[in-house]
Amino acid sequence: MDKVRKTTGDASWFVRDRFGMFIHWGLYAQPARHEWVKHNEEIPDERYDTYFRHFDPDLYKPELWAKAAADAGMKYFIITTKHHEGFCLWDTKLTDYKAPNTPAGRDLLTPMVKAFREQDLRVGFYHSLIDWHHPHNIIDPHIGPYRNRPDRVQMNKGRDQAKYARYLHGQVRELLTKFGKVDVLWFDFSYPKPDGSGKGHKDWQSEKLYALVRKLAPHIILNDRLDLPESWDIKTPEQFQPREWVRINGRRVVWEACQTFSGSWGYHRDETSWKSVDQLVQMLVDSVSKGGNLLLNVGPTGRGEFDQRALDRLAAMGVWMKRHSRSIYGCTQAPNGFQTPQDCRLTYNPQTNRLYVHVFAWPFVHLHLDGFAGKVEYAQLLNDASEIKFANSSEFALHGQIQPASSSRNALALTLPVQKPPVTVPVIELFLKRS
Ligand code: GLC
Repeated sequence: MDKVRKTTGDASWFVRDRFGMFIHWGLYAQPARHEWVKHNEEIPDERYDTYFRHFDPDLYKPELWAKAAADAGMKYFIITTKHHEGFCLWDTKLTDYKAPNTPAGRDLLTPMVKAFREQDLRVGFYHSLIDWHHPHNIIDPHIGPYRNRPDRVQMNKGRDQAKYARYLHGQVRELLTKFGKVDVLWFDFSYPKPDGSGKGHKDWQSEKLYALVRKLAPHIILNDRLDLPESWDIKTPEQFQPREWVRINGRRVVWEACQTFSGSWGYHRDETSWKSVDQLVQMLVDSVSKGGNLLLNVGPTGRGEFDQRALDRLAAMGVWMKRHSRSIYGCTQAPNGFQTPQDCRLTYNPQTNRLYVHVFAWPFVHLHLDGFAGKVEYAQLLNDASEIKFANSSEFALHGQIQPASSSRNALALTLPVQKPPVTVPVIELFLKRS
């Protein structure tokens, strides 16, 4: 097996736990049409302030969120402490633009962290580098509500990016010192342009910020969006599934796909492109089969709830995880030599030496596994531990009327029930022989 690039932070739990919840929650939950609404509709501060004045999540019970995540089988969560709009969920000393000053009237982050810890989930903070509210963040021509303003240059008079960087660093210090152990830090994002017009490590003073993070939290897992070529632990493909184990400079890396239920990260009332439970479970399996994690996002409403579409999907994933988490936790890509059959994904637990065949399209009775002959001691369906019989594919084909396929010599043929087991993605658990 190729070696995986070493992380500086402690990723040992991360590559075991595999499944986390992303939460995007801020003022944008109220317009309910994407967390980029301020940028998309070029809404000036005065108008965006309406949402600040009306933010009143009266049904907010983070225990319910944590329970929904734990029941789905998630093992960590990552919450937007501040998104690009600049609004802060906690009682930061560095700005007034925070939840305690809205009708919510309180720090919303502390009880959330507590609730998720009580459900044994690890804690991660997303923190936006971009800030569309801070008076010292320079307005650039690419991103933000004022990017197209003819008086942009004028508006930048008196803005001092270094002051913004100081604010950013100060907030990170708060986040890493006031909430107990934080396991993941997820900065978002840099967009340096060749002509210097975008934003990157110079604007955030990323080297200094990195040093601060490592000083305050040496163990923390850091994502890859500070615009520093080497100073990161995980890669974060967003809204797509990589075709194979993610590599950087030829080396396998620790990675996590982040995905939405419906396209938007913040609560979006009218979005209709919700993924099915099948797709969602398959995305989780697909990630693990390539050595990665899945971070699946929920955008709670302005009243502080997960909406029903999210709850239904989380619950259904939990039903699947209850019987199949053995093929997820502690698992990774299968060793070389085991070929992935058509319409399937393989995962492997190196500790138990079991290999898992996830069948995305249920075939008729026979599933041929190339490269598996002589390697399997016992096979069963994972959902009910019912035995699955198998034979060498070449023997099997000779009983029939046709020539064995050319690859049959090393293949194993599983005999499956005609009917697909009543689960979202059926899994066959193979106990491998110790070699
Ligand atoms: C992006 C978007 C954003 C979202 C994030 C999640 O970079 O700006 O709204 O928070 O990705 O990966």
